[in-house]
Amino acid sequence: MSLLAGRIAALGTENAFKLGEDIQRCLDRGLDVVKFNLGEPDFDSAAHINRTGIEQIEAGNTHYCDPAGILPLRKAISNWIGATRGLDVDPSRIVVTPGAKPPISFTLLTYVDAGDEVIYPSPGFPIYESWVTFVGAKPVPLHLEEERGFAFGPEDLARLITAKTKVIILCSPSNPTGGVLHRDDLRGIAEVIRDRCGPDVRVYSDEVYERILFDGETHASIASEEGMEERTVLVSGHSKSYAMTGWRLGWAAVPTRQEAQVFKQFNINIVSCVPPFVQEAGRTAYESPETQPVVDKMVEAFQRRRDWIVPALNDIEGMRCQMPKGAFYVFPNIAGVCESLGVVEAHQAMPPEVRARTNPSNMFQMFLLYRYGVATMDRNSFGAIGAEGQHYLRLSIATSMESCQEGVGRMKEAAADREGFARFLDEEKLWG
Ligand SMILES: Cc1ncc(COP(=O)(O)O)c(C=O)c1O
Repeated sequence: MSLLAGRIAALGTENAFKLGEDIQRCLDRGLDVVKFNLGEPDFDSAAHINRTGIEQIEAGNTHYCDPAGILPLRKAISNWIGATRGLDVDPSRIVVTPGAKPPISFTLLTYVDAGDEVIYPSPGFPIYESWVTFVGAKPVPLHLEEERGFAFGPEDLARLITAKTKVIILCSPSNPTGGVLHRDDLRGIAEVIRDRCGPDVRVYSDEVYERILFDGETHASIASEEGMEERTVLVSGHSKSYAMTGWRLGWAAVPTRQEAQVFKQFNINIVSCVPPFVQEAGRTAYESPETQPVVDKMVEAFQRRRDWIVPALNDIEGMRCQMPKGAFYVFPNIAGVCESLGVVEAHQAMPPEVRARTNPSNMFQMFLLYRYGVATMDRNSFGAIGAEGQHYLRLSIATSMESCQEGVGRMKEAAADREGFARFLDEEKLWG
């Protein structure tokens, strides 16, 4: 009998959290680290939202509450969905969760049996692949190609749908590519799903970056397309749009009351409820007129940084970076750098068991961190299945303009430091 249950081996992770240990090691060595790794706004939650939370605690709203979420917040979410997606969702179909992450596991556990197939974007949020493998489903990555602006067409999705497809995951705006699905894209995708999937197939629509859009883009949801509300698990939350990552607040709007009951039951089994004072603060985020200007200010800052950093990255020999349309990430292709620094070569020369522990993007990521004090995320942190030969980094621009400038300056030096890379490999022996 072994200590850990067999299923634990199938559980993935989110490297953005794991990287903390490497960053700490670098800090302990006296390196100052520019952090492009974090998937959270560098803004604090707004004063008017904080005030609600504090007042609610002081008023004694500190007890257990409805595991589905307090009704006033579910009503506020329903109104928000109505205003932004044109849908009339009864609050009985909405479940409040501690962040927008739990609905991923709830969805996989609710709808998917071992052997079913789940289609999900790759690169995409890593927790999709983690839960798909954990529940014993067959992972079917929908590869987003740079040449096509990290977009995909209905025909790409159609090719992956089989009789075993049970859940199709979409994410717009996208982490990590910053790609945005427009109304026209969604219309075609919805048509394929209506034509090719039975009524019990669910679309998981991750819209957690819904308010972080650039160049005047507007948010569109697949749930608004004809016949899709009844198939879509629509998910969003407060972490990104309202800079409330540490509050842990998100929600799912599901097709039926029965499904909402299952999600509620997961809350009961795992967390009981989301703290009521957190939910009241979340309600303020939706209902207060003070919110919009705060969101606008944050999004403008992200857009200014994007407008600076994309050309700066494109200016680095061997890098190529597209202009994201939403979220707060840039996702440069670093294949040229991996070639010119000898990273690909060094990876190929590793013994097979060592080689399997890393990949060229990861090796360059670690070189940047350990030798230049720049923390980024590598391609495989966004879904490893089928990602061989893809060389990208994700940089979060949720950090000050000064940090962006300092970090990119260091990346430029690193990208030209072939000798430094060879020394780094010899000295650190990170992969054994
Ligand atoms: C696409 C996507 N979905 C969900 C989440 C989880 O958000 P939360 O912090 O609200 O759980 C994240 C966080 O990085 C994300 O990028």
